[in-house]
Formats: sequence, structure tokens, C-alpha cells
Amino acid sequence: MCGIVGYIGYREAFPIVIKGLRRLEYRGYDSAGVMLYDGNELVVCKTKGKVADLEERCKDTTTAGATIGMGHTRWATHGVPNDVNSHPHLSNSGELAIIHNGIIENYEPLKKELINRGYTFKSDTDTEVLVNLIEDVQKTQNLKLGKAVQVALRQVIGAYAICVFDIKKPNEIIVARLGSPLAIGVGENEYFIASDASPFIEYTTNAIYLEDEEIAVIRLGKKLKVRKIKDDSLVDPYVQKLQMNLEQIEKGGYDHFMLKEIYEQPSVIKDTYRGRLLADQGIIRMAGIEDNLERFVNAERILIVACGTSWHAGLVAEYVIEEFTRIPVEVEYASEFRYRNPIINKGDVVIAISQSGETADTLAAIKLAKENGAFVFGVCNVVGSSISRETHAGAYTHAGPEIGVASTKAFTTQITVLTMIALRIAQAKGTLNHTDYRRYLQELERIPEQVKEALESNDVAKEIAAVFKDAPNCLYLGRGYNFPVALEGALKLKEISYIHAEGYPAAEMKHGPIALIDEMMPVVVIAPKQGHYDKVVSNIQEIKSRSGKIIAVVTKGDTQVRDLADYVIEIPETSDALSPLITTIPLQLLSYHIAVFRGCNVDQPRNLAKSVTVE
Ligand code: M6R
Repeated sequence: MCGIVGYIGYREAFPIVIKGLRRLEYRGYDSAGVMLYDGNELVVCKTKGKVADLEERCKDTTTAGATIGMGHTRWATHGVPNDVNSHPHLSNSGELAIIHNGIIENYEPLKKELINRGYTFKSDTDTEVLVNLIEDVQKTQNLKLGKAVQVALRQVIGAYAICVFDIKKPNEIIVARLGSPLAIGVGENEYFIASDASPFIEYTTNAIYLEDEEIAVIRLGKKLKVRKIKDDSLVDPYVQKLQMNLEQIEKGGYDHFMLKEIYEQPSVIKDTYRGRLLADQGIIRMAGIEDNLERFVNAERILIVACGTSWHAGLVAEYVIEEFTRIPVEVEYASEFRYRNPIINKGDVVIAISQSGETADTLAAIKLAKENGAFVFGVCNVVGSSISRETHAGAYTHAGPEIGVASTKAFTTQITVLTMIALRIAQAKGTLNHTDYRRYLQELERIPEQVKEALESNDVAKEIAAVFKDAPNCLYLGRGYNFPVALEGALKLKEISYIHAEGYPAAEMKHGPIALIDEMMPVVVIAPKQGHYDKVVSNIQEIKSRSGKIIAVVTKGDTQVRDLADYVIEIPETSDALSPLITTIPLQLLSYHIAVFRGCNVDQPRNLAKSVTVE
């Protein structure tokens, strides 16, 4: 939800900022802008559109010589995407520049107050209010920039990660965060600032992740100073050594990040269980679980909170955890949970699932659960993310950076982690017999190979995509473990191809959606041999007798469904409980190819952003 980049050092800032913005474009891409300072002049160049449009717009702008710069790629909240609403924003004097990720919720009263005091506004953004508030504080209270930002932020309600530059203090940039991520790359005589570490990984692996309610004064030639915004206390910043490398955040020969990430699944699933799953010895060992095993074993209920694809992984987990451990599980949209006065008991364990670890609603749900005394466990991908820090304990998915807005490898690695958790609890509780437990471990270990095999369906998925690329609607049906997969398949299609799609439990179809079926309606049915196969076959027959076009995902060698379906995609056989890890693959490929055929921007679908850090 907006990407911010900053640089202060001895190199040319413009190329660093532009490259950084390209890496952060997954966070938002409806407009972009840069601010540069070369020691004399403060230059701002911004435009509606993508970073490529920004480069075009900046062609005639003098960028050389500037060694201080800030850039922003936007996902609009306040004010439509246009040139004026793009960041950076300047204060009325033109001396202060700001870039901002987040929302200032009380911007209207603040704006009114500033207007009364003679300030004028060019944009409709909350950000322009903030920069003028800082200027006002600076002037009226005669404060240095850092202090003025701090005092202004104390008046703000909402979320922010900001960079502020003052032409009068050309050796420093002030950064602060509350609820939106902000990382500082520490180099030799240079600093980098970004929403995540990807823009600066090629320059430095030393990073400081600012915590909520912290402000840092980044001054050239001086040690970084971090303070708490509220009480002004000094904080000793922790410099992390980053593990990520450049290759992980580039496309590596694939046309799109999404395709690269789909194909990474065999290796990242292996990374997810590496060192945790010792199938031959019958061991599952995850530090976050071992340290809190009693809580899980004695849990009266497990509540799962998440959004989007992560919520679908939560639904798969509901089936797996209940089946293996007999602990009741409830899965909640974090956005609903946080506002509905939910019943949270002390004996509940809350699992929060999030790829980015920054989703605002999930974070708020975690805070609510903690306030009510629950133990909260995080399943996150991004190391050091807000959710991973906010939870009592957790397990990383180790999927590596996911850049494509449509989640793919995050989903399967989340399911892998959650399945391991279920198996470990079941073993400790004795709710799964030893033979089954060992069998699941062996099967889980084989999943990467089977995902590889499932990826061989790429050509078939592409052929089917060519047939249905112009379909206005699409239904996805599955039962049991594969009902959440049907939801996920539909979400993937919707978000990247803009085709209306719905996922349903196959048997629910006759309670309404069956009315939609005619010869124009493609229906994707997930029908692996294990599970409720015969029931799904009956559902397929119901669709067929109403002339629906059936695309079936079947187990290799299946003949019964093949005879009924118009198109089949074969996948290797695994047990019902693990099948979502395999059945998901062809659905990801199908949506990918449909979106490509339709000429859609697969990695940056319209209106979306990778991490939703606003509610
Ligand atoms: O980072 P999170 O897992 O918390 O994100 C949750 C959703 O925003 C995310 O899964 C979204 O639905 C994806 N675009 C789905 O592909």
C-alpha cells in the first residue's frame, strides 16, 4: 500500500530511487514521484501512472548531481490518482517535502485548522496536510525538523511511514513509522530508506527495521538517532543482517513474477519444512510450536484470523487441524473479527496468517486478541514484519519474497506450515494414530516432487485458458479440503484477469448457483480421487445435464470424470488432507494464462496492492 524509497549519501540518488521504486511497485502503482536535492535546488517530478511513466516524465528534469532523493509509488486512499495527488508533497513554503505510506485518519480537522491559519492545499491528500502541519509546528514552536515532525505526529491519528526532507537541513532525512513498515539500509557514509529491504539489498545487507511509534534522524556523517515519538526516549536500534539476495527479487527469466513464483513452489515448500520435518524419524520440530506446545495441546479452541488468500489457507487449516487434533477451529476474516466484539477466551489460541505480515486488519485482530488475553501465534512470510513482531510466537513460511500481487507460493507454504502444526499437535495429543502420522510425514516430504509434476500441466492449462479467455463468468467447485481451493482458484482468476468468478462447495451449487449454468458457463471442478470423489462426480453430472462446460482437475489415470468433463487437468495422487497443495497448482496456472491472453497486467492488477496496510 504505497512504496517509499529514500537515499542520502554520495551516489547519484535518482537511479537508486527509480530502481527502488520499480522493486516496490507491487505495493501500489497508480502514480509515482520523486524529490531530488543537489545542494541548490529541490526538484519534484511526479505523475499519474507507473514508475515507467515517471521516468518518461522526468526526462527533461535535471536529476544529475543530486545525492539526496526520495521516491514514492502510490496506491490511492485520499484523492484520486492524478499528478497533483501524487507524492512527494511540499509544504506551503516549498521548503519541506514528504512521502507517506498510510492514512492520516484525522486529516480533516487538522486541515480545517491549518486553513484557518492561512494554509492552502493543492491536493486532496491527507499527506499534504501532514507536511503543512509539520511546517506549522516548526514555525510556531521554533523547533528543529526532527522535533517538529515528532510534535506533529503526536497530533496524528492513523498509520504512517514517512520520510521528510527540509531544504534548510540538507544533510538529513527524518523518518518515522506507525503501522506501516519502514526499513533503513545502513551503508558506508550512506543510508537507504524503503518500505522493505528490496530496494537496497544490492548496496547493503545491514538493515534497521523501525518499530511502531519510532522516529529516526538520518544525518550524513552522524550516528543514526532513534527515539520514541511519544515520550522522546532514545532507542538503541538493532542492525539486522539480511539473508535475502538480489536474485530472489528478480524475475529470473520468467515473463512475470507470478509465473516465477508458481514455479518456485517445489523448492520453497521444501524450504518451509527444511529442518522441521524429519519424516524418517517421525519428527516435526518447529521452535515456535515446541516452546508453546502445552498451549496448543490444551487449547479449547483455535481461532484463525487472516485476509484474502491467507484466509483461504486458514480454511484449509481448519479442515486439517480439526481432522488431526479434534480441536475446534474457527476461521475469521480479520476485518470482521476486529469490529464485531468477538468472544475470545483465555484458553483460545489465535493463529494469524499473513504473507506480508503487514496487513492492517490482521494486525488489529491480533492486538484485539492479545488485549483479551489470548495467546497469538503468527504464520508470516516476511521476516521481521509487524505481525511477526506483534505475535507471541510464530513460524515463518520461508517462501522468499513474493512480488506478484496474486499470492501463489505464499498460499502453499502457509498450508505446509499449518499442516505441520496440526500434525505436531496431533502427535502430542495422540489424536492421530502412529501409522497415519508417519504416513502423512512421508507424504508431506513428497509434496515438492508432486508439485513439480503438477506444474507439468502448464501446457494443458494454457490450452484451456485459450478457450475460456473471453468467458464473462466462471464457477469453481470443490468439496472438503478442496472447497477452500475452489475459493482460492476463483480469487486468482478475479484478481488478475478481471473475470467474475465464484468458488462454492460443490454440493451448495444446487441451492442457488446452479441457476447460472448454461452452455456459456465454464465450471472448474476439483475432483481428486481421494476425498468425496463419488459425490463430486454426481455434482459434475448435474452441471453436465445443464450444458455447463466442465474443466476438471483429476487424479492421474482417472477415467470416470474424464468421460464427463470437457477438459481435464491431471495431477498426482496424494491423500485428501494434503491435496490442496497439489490441486491449487493447475488453478494458479489457469488464471495466469487467462490473464496473459487477455492482456492483463498479471503482476500488478488494477486497483490492488500487494500488502494492504490500510483498513
Ligand atoms: O499479506 P497478507 O497475506 O496478509 O495479505 C492478505 C491479502 O491481502 C492477500 O492474500 C490478497 O488477497 C492477495 N492479493 C491474494 O492473491
